[in-house]
Amino acid sequence: MTTNAAAVRAVSAAGKSAAERFGVMEMPSLDFTADVARETEHLYERVSHHIPRIEWPVYAPYIAAINRLKKERGAVILAHNYQTPDIFHCVADIVGDSLQLAREATKVDAEIIVQCGVHFMAETSKLLNLDKTVLIPDMKAGCSLAESITGADVRLLRETYPGVPIVTYVNTSAEVKAESDICCTSANAVEVVESFGVDRVLCIPDEFLAQNVAAQTKVKVLTWKGHCEVHERFTAEELTAYREADPSIQIIAHPECPPEVVAVSDFAGSTSGMIDYVRKNRPPKVLLVTECSMASNIETEAPGVEFIKPCNLCPHMKRITLPKILESLVFMREEIHVDPAVAERARLAVERMVNLRN
Ligand code: 13P
Ligand code: SF4
Repeated sequence: MTTNAAAVRAVSAAGKSAAERFGVMEMPSLDFTADVARETEHLYERVSHHIPRIEWPVYAPYIAAINRLKKERGAVILAHNYQTPDIFHCVADIVGDSLQLAREATKVDAEIIVQCGVHFMAETSKLLNLDKTVLIPDMKAGCSLAESITGADVRLLRETYPGVPIVTYVNTSAEVKAESDICCTSANAVEVVESFGVDRVLCIPDEFLAQNVAAQTKVKVLTWKGHCEVHERFTAEELTAYREADPSIQIIAHPECPPEVVAVSDFAGSTSGMIDYVRKNRPPKVLLVTECSMASNIETEAPGVEFIKPCNLCPHMKRITLPKILESLVFMREEIHVDPAVAERARLAVERMVNLRN
């Protein structure tokens, strides 16, 4: 039997819930004891700019309990760059943008993956690890882009544009990925679109990402009307006002922003691309045109850089909290399942992307 077939069979045979397979644990004490203070002190330094010392006794017991339980369960925590600093710096094993998390998910040794991010990210990890248990601390952590399109919509697009390759943004459901030729993220969208060597490609469902890609390639990019509810709110006027107030400011934007916003920015890139830009260029003052937690996460490692944070929060990312991560590990919930027939095809689309430059 091939590895894929074995993995798919493991999924379909998994009649028991994760709680039944791994057992449920006792909820640990959440007192701020001397042991907890000692175990977590080195972590406080990483978040001291964000969490006042007086509030640490509330965070520390969760952090200590999660880190202990993670070891006991043999679990690994993957966290997106938009998670809050307490999660990003104190409990995550691997952090990154969507592409990095997808790549790391292929290398994970642990039997249990806890995905701190939104549902499509956890689903992507599951697709790449069909024989592993993937948990998300809140199943309702969705994404406006993923909700903008269905598998039936993609089938209709294929009928309407026969022979035109379909590139699907990773911010989509497994059902949508299954109908696509390949996935992309904001970090590799231009490369993926150009990888077919044809003059017309569908890049769905993010209209703005597609328009921003189209500005960087000769390939004609057809798209869909999906938008990110966080990035669509930024305007060129708002950014221009920041620049007029301080001409020395560097403006860096995520490509889910409208093209006119990207046009008045100094740089556009994936969340990790934006972080790398700040690390390398150390601008004295920077405006991160993206979800607001990301600036808080990189502040510690960029001393001397003043971050301007327009406070646009992703309500879906913010559903993931320390108490929910702890419950996830104690009760082994909520488990990601993908229909094996869908999983097989969706996995191929993700693997084609992950393998593109490996
Ligand atoms: P990245 O792939 O750049 O991490 O973006 C994911 C996302 O959801 C941005 O809104
Ligand atoms: Fe989706 Fe936008 Fe939230 Fe990213 S920031 S997860 S694209 S809603």
